[in-house]
Amino acid sequence: MSEKAILIVGDKKLEMPIIVGSEGEKGIDISQLRAQTGMVTYDPSFGNTASCSSAITFIDGDQGILRYRGIPIEQFVEKPNFVEVAWLLIFGRLPKREELQSFSDQLTENELLHEGLNHQYQQIPVDAPPMAILSASLNNLACYHQQFLAVEDIESLGAVAARLISKVRTMAAFSYRRSRGLPFIYPDPHLRYGANFLHMMFSLPYRQYVVTREMEDALNLFLILHADHEQNCSTSTVRTVGSARANLFASCAAGVSALWGPLHGGANVEVMEMLQRIHDGGISPDECIRMAKDKESKFKLFGFGHRVYKNYDPRAKILRSCCDKVFATLKRPDPLLDTARKLEELALEDKYFQDRKLYPNVDFYSGILLRAMGIPTNMFTVMFSIGRLPGWIAQWKEQHEDPTTKIVRPRQIYTGPTKCDYVPMEQR
Ligand code: CMC
Repeated sequence: MSEKAILIVGDKKLEMPIIVGSEGEKGIDISQLRAQTGMVTYDPSFGNTASCSSAITFIDGDQGILRYRGIPIEQFVEKPNFVEVAWLLIFGRLPKREELQSFSDQLTENELLHEGLNHQYQQIPVDAPPMAILSASLNNLACYHQQFLAVEDIESLGAVAARLISKVRTMAAFSYRRSRGLPFIYPDPHLRYGANFLHMMFSLPYRQYVVTREMEDALNLFLILHADHEQNCSTSTVRTVGSARANLFASCAAGVSALWGPLHGGANVEVMEMLQRIHDGGISPDECIRMAKDKESKFKLFGFGHRVYKNYDPRAKILRSCCDKVFATLKRPDPLLDTARKLEELALEDKYFQDRKLYPNVDFYSGILLRAMGIPTNMFTVMFSIGRLPGWIAQWKEQHEDPTTKIVRPRQIYTGPTKCDYVPMEQR
């Protein structure tokens, strides 16, 4: 007999099915709760709520496990290939050689932006935040690809996914060039995904930027580690927007907006600014830890803590050793890496962090790696977005294909004034 949960409310007894995931995770199905009791559940920030079932990414936060379509994240480290991982996430299995080639060809075919979109960059203030530009540009893509506003089949989904994943890096690079007053460098169809992005970022009309294999691998790894993370804030946003049957461009643009926040993707910028302040002598590592523990200070140790991981974030572990590898090849140490290691050491020895199970998260070491590639701090969250795009697309597709999907519409517990009368202006 399948397991059930029993809820007693007043004189009513409600039996609720328990659904079990493929890794043994259990959830109480409360879908009949309101119909049968007239009540709703109260779970602000959804810390106890599974908003959907999903077959894309598995996380065990207590053990520090992350798997994409069942494959442990550590298995992508050896020969990192972001395009392959994007295909895996979106289509549900590893691609065959010809499938990967065909998807890579589609990425190459779609790497240019419509000239109309290029001209829009000229109207944007040079100091505009790159995340604002990215979100607006993704939405703008809908104007140039209206044939994809209603995605009805897997083939057009593949075509729109290729456009988004390809064009996002051109947009990111162009917004960087615009902020520096540099001419746009058009993509080079002979380069692979990551190398092509670095070329658009750093080549000059008279000098081709040479991308080393180490840097290309490090970028691929960075993008893979950010590619999906189940129902986080931006992905839930993409699903919420998508649940209204909004198109993929609009849904992903909303995801970028959510990711911008400093508690989410924006944390990588905060980490770097914090490390820089420590390095420049603005604060010491000890002072930083003291402030993080002091609730009055409103200061957080950015890059630490996670809603799901109550153990070392496996992505942070990989990025930490990737930083060691990259700096060994560059033969140019970064003092901020030493500062980060010192902070980590102090935090992990501290009772406050131990009691709350606060460990380094993906953002703690990612910025140092991006800095080694020459990516400026204000582009860090844009880099996170490029990585996360396949995850958003995969989640949107999964939701779109699920016949039980309904528009997302949470309830609330109203706490405002009870019924009162409108008062005309002269009587107020
Ligand atoms: N520094 C100091 N204290 C912290 C931190 C931190 N970074 N993170 C959590 N805490 C404390 C928090 O004050 C609370 O203490 P108390 O129990 O005394 O009130 C306790 O730990 C539990 O924290 P919470 O805020 O209830 O946890 P949450 O699950 O709501 O928040 C978080 C998760 C990631 C927003 C939070 O840990 C945080 O703000 N971290 C810093 C920002 C950051 O690095 N964000 C990137 C997350 S990973 C990338 C991504 O997925 O976007």
